[in-house]
Amino acid sequence: MTAISVSHLGKSFGKVTAVDDLSFDVPSGAITAFLGPNGAGKTTTLRMILGLVTPTAGSATVHGLPYRRLDRPLQRVGAILEATAFHPGLTAGNHLEAVRVAAGLDASRVGHVLRQVELEAVQGRRIGGFSLGMRQRLALATALLGAPPVLVLDEPANGLDPDGIRWLRGFLRAYALDGNSVLVSTHILAEIEQIADHVVIISGGRLRWSGGLESGAGLEDLYLEATR
Ligand SMILES: Nc1ncnc2c1ncn2[C@@H]1O[C@H](COP(=O)(O)OP(=O)(O)O)[C@@H](O)[C@H]1O
Ligand SMILES: [Mg+2]
Repeated sequence: MTAISVSHLGKSFGKVTAVDDLSFDVPSGAITAFLGPNGAGKTTTLRMILGLVTPTAGSATVHGLPYRRLDRPLQRVGAILEATAFHPGLTAGNHLEAVRVAAGLDASRVGHVLRQVELEAVQGRRIGGFSLGMRQRLALATALLGAPPVLVLDEPANGLDPDGIRWLRGFLRAYALDGNSVLVSTHILAEIEQIADHVVIISGGRLRWSGGLESGAGLEDLYLEATR
């Protein structure tokens, strides 16, 4: 089963080719690490998967459909993109409730996602006073509101301290063990090495390597070889 399929995807910004004839599949029920150096084209690819950037070539589908054609998209795919903006005056609970109502989701979902990301204790506090790590957890809670079977995360460990990174790893592993699918980008191998089942490595907008990762296989060697 394939959760996300990227087929001959390309994107140019003027003379800059950000993504070039890129094809890969994200298997269901697994964690796929999306790796590459800064500027490799990871964010542009994820934004095309989420229908936020229009490709200049090729296509990307989630469970067989382009994102923009998904019925109830928040219940199909949850996403964390770089630099998620929140209204600083809202409390975490207010924010989640507003998204829940707009998406027509069940009232029980807010409490559920607050427990999932362990933010219940601060749900009444204003987001303006949140640390970067708390904001990342709130972004994850927002992504989980629709109980989606697929998560797309762009550098989700940015701003997390070592405890936060460990917590996120444990969360993603449990989420995938429940049969859900994760595509997570990072340029820091250590963040993902212990939990990735599958790896896609890009550089200069092009695919360099993709495949399953045997536990214990040296991701660093693979990465250095692929991006050389
Ligand atoms: N909106 C944009 N306009 C112009 N160039 C862009 C834009 N977005 C990304 N790029 C360029 O595309 C390339 C890939 O960027 P990006 O997808 O952000 O890479 P990554 O997430 O792997 O660091 C870079 O050269 C970047 O400067
Ligand atoms: Mg990026």
